[in-house]
Amino acid sequence: MNNIKDLYIDNSLIGSHQGHTLFDDVYIEHNSLPEINLADIDTTTEFMGSNFSFPLIISSMIGGTERGLEINEILVNIAQDLNIPIELGSQQENIASDEQSKLYLSEIDDDLEKNVFILSNLSAKASEEDVKIAMDQVKANALSLYINAAQEAVSFDHEADFEGVLANIEKLVSVYGDKVLVKEKAMGMSQETVKKLVSAGVNYIDLSGYGGTNFIEIENLRNYRNDFSDMYGWGIPTAKSILNARVVSQDVKIIASGGIKTSMDIIKALILGADYVAVAGELLRYLVHGGYDHAKAYLEGLIKKTKILMFLLGARNLEELKRVPYKLTGKLKEISE
Ligand SMILES: Cc1cc2nc3c(=O)[nH]c(=O)nc-3n(C[C@H](O)[C@H](O)[C@H](O)COP(=O)(O)O)c2cc1C
Repeated sequence: MNNIKDLYIDNSLIGSHQGHTLFDDVYIEHNSLPEINLADIDTTTEFMGSNFSFPLIISSMIGGTERGLEINEILVNIAQDLNIPIELGSQQENIASDEQSKLYLSEIDDDLEKNVFILSNLSAKASEEDVKIAMDQVKANALSLYINAAQEAVSFDHEADFEGVLANIEKLVSVYGDKVLVKEKAMGMSQETVKKLVSAGVNYIDLSGYGGTNFIEIENLRNYRNDFSDMYGWGIPTAKSILNARVVSQDVKIIASGGIKTSMDIIKALILGADYVAVAGELLRYLVHGGYDHAKAYLEGLIKKTKILMFLLGARNLEELKRVPYKLTGKLKEISE
């Protein structure tokens, strides 16, 4: 299993299929007279009861291997430096192993962990007992549960049993309340899915849409029995997923992820109605190629440029940004009517 985790890192880096988030189909207009000062732009936000500098989450990716530990140490340091939350990689397969459960966060980072908001990550099928063990193992502040029907269905070593998953989510929400986030794994969410999660009591939903990391491709690259490359186009684009979610509820907290790479992606996700964005694959690429400095500079650049875009839209804070008008064009308009 743990070689597989390292393989996911490699496969996500070599994957070559280009999907589309459809953020290109969101049109917003420059404001020549913003009547505000760039220095006054405020991006602070609240997430699960804590305050953060910017509505960005480091998405679930890694842990459970020596290489994963090395990467997580860098990511956790960056999360602390930028005052943003971080989700660890899935602990699902490693709960039973003391050795492997230590390969998520370094023990010498005890002080650091206290200052960083950490989410444990498990399958939405996880039992209450496993969730407790996993959260204790990494002293997590909150819980992230993934639903990955597509990934399991195309892998050769999973059964893709998804009966009863919603009821399990509902049970875990009754225990952990607003400290639970439910996420896809890069296939996006329909209105129906969001509706079901909201009625199960879920208050934080990460849409993890189509257009960035392609999990069917990642699985296919390690599958020597079948070829699933004709399914690489499967999934709901991230921009459409946000619109889907907002039709269902104005109150549920929406995290937009899946192909978030640039400040323009971030600004459009927030204008469409996301409360936060999350980044996985692109950040990993910067980290693998240039380590801590490169990855941190990438995120700092995203934050700086998003603030400039807010300034150029005349939006002083995230509330005002949500009220910025936009128009849908092209395919996004067509599928949203
Ligand atoms: C190498 C890698 C490993 C991942 N592992 C997990 C995981 O263990 N649990 C999970 O919920 N999502 C996992 N994801 C999915 C991401 O959290 C995210 O939802 C998805 O990649 C879409 O974001 P992106 O396009 O920015 O990569 C992983 C992604 C990558 C690239």
